[in-house]
Amino acid sequence: MTNKLETADSPDRLKRVVIEPLTRVEGHGKVTLLLDDDNHIEQARLHIVEFRGFEKFIQGRPYWELPVLVQRLCGICPVSHHLVAAKACDMLVGTQQLTPTAEKIRRLMHLGQTLQSHALHFFHLSSPDLLFGFDDEVRHRNIIGVIEDYPDIAMQGVLLRKFGQEVIRMTSGRRVHGTGAIPGGVNKSLSIEERDALLADVDQMIAWGQATVELIRRIYLEHRNYHNEFATIDTSMLSLAREDGALELYDGGLRAKDADGKLIFDQIDNCKYGDYLHEGIKSWSYMKFPFIVSRGMENGWYRVGPLARVNNCDYIDTPLAEAARKDFRELSNGPVQSTLGYHWARMIELLHCTEAIRDLLHDNDLLGNDLINKGDMQQTSIGIIEAPRGTLVHQYEIDDDGLVTKANLIVSTTNNNQAMNESIRQVASHYLDGKHLTEPLLNQIEVAVRAYDPCLSCATHALGKMPLVIELQNPDGTLAERLVKDSDSTFTSS
Ligand code: MG
Ligand code: NI
Repeated sequence: MTNKLETADSPDRLKRVVIEPLTRVEGHGKVTLLLDDDNHIEQARLHIVEFRGFEKFIQGRPYWELPVLVQRLCGICPVSHHLVAAKACDMLVGTQQLTPTAEKIRRLMHLGQTLQSHALHFFHLSSPDLLFGFDDEVRHRNIIGVIEDYPDIAMQGVLLRKFGQEVIRMTSGRRVHGTGAIPGGVNKSLSIEERDALLADVDQMIAWGQATVELIRRIYLEHRNYHNEFATIDTSMLSLAREDGALELYDGGLRAKDADGKLIFDQIDNCKYGDYLHEGIKSWSYMKFPFIVSRGMENGWYRVGPLARVNNCDYIDTPLAEAARKDFRELSNGPVQSTLGYHWARMIELLHCTEAIRDLLHDNDLLGNDLINKGDMQQTSIGIIEAPRGTLVHQYEIDDDGLVTKANLIVSTTNNNQAMNESIRQVASHYLDGKHLTEPLLNQIEVAVRAYDPCLSCATHALGKMPLVIELQNPDGTLAERLVKDSDSTFTSS
């Protein structure tokens, strides 16, 4: 693989298949498949036009604006950016430890957003593929089809997501672009009325979370090709983990395991991040290629997100999700490497969120008034969080006036960059006959990429659904074939 990647950077003799953009992935992207002379897939490239202006845009702004400002980075996961920026700001204002109320309000906010994001992804974006099969008619394989054929499942998805949004609204002040987390703490706690309103619904959410894990478990086990065949690749995994090895979404230290499940590193302090992880660059992509330093750029890539977290942790500290985790890990001796295993792992986390929200709601610290804790100012900081889609890093430097002089953000989707390319390559190798672009091929590639729940919006600022185009290019650059999927899901070949 090493040589292929390097030589293919200027692959004159390779035929290319270009696919753009992907439907039901937020933002937009394009896929190029590079064929060799024998019509084998030499390489797959997922192109995402990274919006690099943001890191420049926040230079010169006062640090205390960051948690609110960075939410403009992404309309899909603003709460992740809000919280990770607040964590970085804690370090700038010298907060060694948040007050119990501040820490628990932030954790609650994060659980709410993970719940709503996972519910949206599963029910709205992925359940059509999983319930109807990848070969179902595209016109039917969408959320409308789910509402028609499985109204109870669709309704549960809507209400799980709504509950998560309510948690966000109550902890951050607003459903979108909240201001709850501030440097050194939070600016509001929960009222008794708010707490009781959430408590009234939380047991129902846990029950639906359990039902959803059962649903994805059944679908997964019914499809033999999900586990060892479809888009499955062997990779290292990166996530935060709590000091005692528990699943940890808000805080903790970095942990990486190799494809066999052996520890590469564990409990790395945020500030040492740069000693262990670097960002590689390839000429054909705006998006960077992060890798584990000790393994080098070609072999050091990894996966992040629900699959990585559920594989990496030693246990989950809520009982129903822990039982579900054990069941999931029975699938294989080492880490579960199936890309479609992301869906199952994601719903285990959704169940965990509902349980953890209930536990927190019984903690009276949520109602407290001690909201902020500050110490001596510092000029550099790194915040790391497990966003719904995976590890998210914000790094800042400020000057004596508190103005940002340098910012580097590594979004979750960038951490999965190489893994998504490899999954596409694996799928294309199975389903491209070498000559013709087919609807099944296009569908399979979408299903593989979608499993990662990429947030292309974090990088592109481009929203909305667009038509999808695949192009097959001859080695001389001329067009051999084109397949277009319009926004109304009709296909045209030319
Ligand atoms: Mg960056
Ligand atoms: Ni995003």
